[in-house]
Amino acid sequence: MERMHLDAIREEYGRGILRRRDLTEVPGALFVRWLEEAIAAGVAEPTAMVVSTIGERGFPESRVVLLKSFDGEGFVFYTGYRSQKGKALSAEPRAALLFFWPELQRQVRITGVAEKVSREASEAYFRSRPVSSQLGALASEQSAVIPSRAWLENRYRDLERQYAASDIPVPLHWGGFRVLPAEMEFWQGRENRLHDRFRYTRHGLGWKADRLSP
Ligand SMILES: Cc1cc2nc3c(=O)[nH]c(=O)nc-3n(C[C@H](O)[C@H](O)[C@H](O)COP(=O)(O)O)c2cc1C
Repeated sequence: MERMHLDAIREEYGRGILRRRDLTEVPGALFVRWLEEAIAAGVAEPTAMVVSTIGERGFPESRVVLLKSFDGEGFVFYTGYRSQKGKALSAEPRAALLFFWPELQRQVRITGVAEKVSREASEAYFRSRPVSSQLGALASEQSAVIPSRAWLENRYRDLERQYAASDIPVPLHWGGFRVLPAEMEFWQGRENRLHDRFRYTRHGLGWKADRLSP
């Protein structure tokens, strides 16, 4: 394969500024402001975040999931508990989250510890999803090797018939994780690669923020 030439792809950053006086006392409040601004700016998939976990063999493993709630305490997403990430988090709950909102030239990095949300919360969210998504979650043993696409679609159709007239049970192997942040970093792209970065870390009962070199 020929080598790709990517050197000419260069973005200038200058769409925003992050000053110390823009910071909030708790990083969750700044996160909410930035997420609202990403939604208002029409960023595609503004709630999409990369979740990184530590795999069985010690390698970091990353994938995109959707943030489904943030209550100031923690970042909640839903997934298969027996998936690669589900198993990884059950064995080693330390995780990293990453939001990238290119249209705003912003990145938020979060590290923390993940815990399962309550069964009631998982069930309530499951029931709020369209029936097709509920069936999809039931049909998928997430991250398992499967024989074919046809096998998966047949399984979906079988379940569709089975639950045509009754509620779809919330799979026990499916639910939410909440990541409780220990550290949060906000990055705003600036001109000449002199970007603004502020990292919040826990300080007593509150938080402190330090400016980092870009
Ligand atoms: C935009 C986008 C949103 C996604 N949202 C979710 C999600 O909310 N939950 C989920 O389990 N997987 C989601 N996925 C799929 C995951 O990236 C991943 O393929 C899947 O969860 C299996 O990951 P694992 O084998 O590492 O556990 C999403 C993928 C993309 C690209």
